[in-house]
Amino acid sequence: MTLPGDAEIRDNWPADPWLLLDEWLPPNDDPVRPVMTLATAADGIPDARTLLLSEWDEHGFYFHTDSRSRKVRQLATHPAVALMLHFPDRARQLTVQGVAEPAPADELRRAFRSRSPYLQQLAWQNTVEFAGLPLVDRIRAWTAFRDDHADGFGQPPTWTGYLVRPTRLTFWIGNPDTASRRTEYTATGDGAWTVRLLAG
Ligand SMILES: Cc1cc2nc3c(=O)[nH]c(=O)nc-3n(C[C@H](O)[C@H](O)[C@H](O)COP(=O)(O)O)c2cc1C
Repeated sequence: MTLPGDAEIRDNWPADPWLLLDEWLPPNDDPVRPVMTLATAADGIPDARTLLLSEWDEHGFYFHTDSRSRKVRQLATHPAVALMLHFPDRARQLTVQGVAEPAPADELRRAFRSRSPYLQQLAWQNTVEFAGLPLVDRIRAWTAFRDDHADGFGQPPTWTGYLVRPTRLTFWIGNPDTASRRTEYTATGDGAWTVRLLAG
């Protein structure tokens, strides 16, 4: 059974959704990053994929990827996105609508440094050519790269990232003893938010 946390028993929801994000999301120095779905809709065609939420701050949510990827091509013309984070252990879901913009260079550097050695290497070797190799060659090339860079390596030129500035945040909370419900924050455009409760 899921025990209600502070947010679940609170009837007066905070005017600022970041107070809830503080409760819901791990701090940026937690090495276990939340997994989220990024949905894009370039030319009216929906697409979605799983990403790590690298960081979040008072501006929004950051993710990182390869500049040659399909999502990057889609975002160049259609930066409106949705993010979905599901926390099954806590019966929670956070849905974000927003607009993606390139992340600042210092944030890109910080995010790359905080990735595990495996993910840093993946950022270098995650190419179509590599994917087309037989497994034995992929393992050999992976090991060779690691041996050739025993002293470490910096971020590849293809490393890129985005900040999603939210326009709407919807916090869903399930409760096995009663109906689920959502609290939805919509940006008013002047830095404030309207908040309303919705059926789950
Ligand atoms: C758990 C998980 C985490 C992932 N994290 C990332 C990530 O942070 N960045 C990334 O570019 N791809 C990540 N991927 C791979 C993406 O889901 C996707 O396959 C890749 O980014 C290509 O997507 P695109 O063709 O839509 O651009 C992750 C996949 C999984 C299953």
